[in-house]
Amino acid sequence: MRQIWITKAGPPEVLEVKEAPDPEPKAGEVRIRVEASGVNFADIMGRMGIYPDLPPIPVVPGYEVGGRVDALGAGVEGSWAGRDVLAMTRFGGYADTVCVPLNRVFVRPGGMSAPEGAAIPVNYFTAWQLIVVMGGLKRDETVLVHSAGGGVGIAATQIAKHIGARVIGTASAAKHAELRALGVDYLIDYRTEDFEARTREITNGRGVELILDAVGGESWKKGYRVLARTGRLGVFGVSSAASGKERSILGMLTMLATTPWVQFNPLSLMNANKGVFGVNLGHMWGEVDRIRQWGEQLLQLWAQGAIKPRIAHTFRFAEAPQAHHYIQDRSNIGKVLLIP
Ligand SMILES: NC(=O)c1ccc[n+]([C@@H]2O[C@H](COP(=O)([O-])OP(=O)(O)OC[C@H]3O[C@@H](n4cnc5c(N)ncnc54)[C@H](OP(=O)(O)O)[C@@H]3O)[C@@H](O)[C@H]2O)c1
Repeated sequence: MRQIWITKAGPPEVLEVKEAPDPEPKAGEVRIRVEASGVNFADIMGRMGIYPDLPPIPVVPGYEVGGRVDALGAGVEGSWAGRDVLAMTRFGGYADTVCVPLNRVFVRPGGMSAPEGAAIPVNYFTAWQLIVVMGGLKRDETVLVHSAGGGVGIAATQIAKHIGARVIGTASAAKHAELRALGVDYLIDYRTEDFEARTREITNGRGVELILDAVGGESWKKGYRVLARTGRLGVFGVSSAASGKERSILGMLTMLATTPWVQFNPLSLMNANKGVFGVNLGHMWGEVDRIRQWGEQLLQLWAQGAIKPRIAHTFRFAEAPQAHHYIQDRSNIGKVLLIP
């Protein structure tokens, strides 16, 4: 098999394709011939050496794949052979062959391609946890989605629109027209506009009921201020720490220095009638039953046409460095995938 390794912490060029013997599925596992692997921002932070969850480098990153089952471990029912699936991998997904425990595998509904399948787990499970499970977004409420053009941002917009909520999105200006077409009601160019002031203006001073913020630092402070009463701020990443393409101590220190360590204390939360919650899907790995339930609900929404991953770009395995550059150059609108 071929795998893409992070050979050392550094710029995208540290990603290298290497060959290894095909893995054999253990009891309770299936082997999948991968047709597409999802690229996530966490892989980029891992490559830069600033993602604490990543196992020690050198390592094969990757959280999700789409493909077909070609071998079964002991105890797996024969009907799984040859099935088209999508699966979650806790690292190791940047490979043309993976072995995955059956309880992390979902059958792809008819008509769903392998790339579309690979684009679902991380982006849509994260958005689901943020909006439905913890954010409790309701019809006619307003949600502010940061990085609305990213994979999570588009998933969140689709789920929010399905609920009947209004979406304000922040994104680079070049992405606005397309994001409007994808359902974002109001767009803010966070580079030239102050999103706090613009959000207040758009909501006639009321503020928003929910914010999804994986930028971190100063952005969390401003977001908290612009929450309406009963509003919730969902924090789920610190992309502002990834300021360049290699680890920058300054970028990390700036993020830490601007993090609102004291603003969200219990007394201020109580008196402001606001909530702050965190999401880390990677740390939900053991919650198999809940994740399966979310997956089934999302696949139903896909079948109804309520959600549909937008594939921004696919890259061949040998082009993995370009895939990381593409995201870090902020070129993607939607999901970036690697094709073996
Ligand atoms: N906690 C969790 O479980 C979890 C799960 C998934 C993702 N996340 C986090 O959610 C965020 C978005 O993930 P994603 O997969 O949707 O992202 P993505 O598809 O890789 O897109 C990233 C987008 O974020 C924006 N961005 C903001 N800061 C950036 C920076 N420093 N460098 C490059 N792009 C930056 C860019 O859009 P603009 O051009 O509009 O700025 C870019 O297109 C990331 O911070 C990620 O770590 C967390």
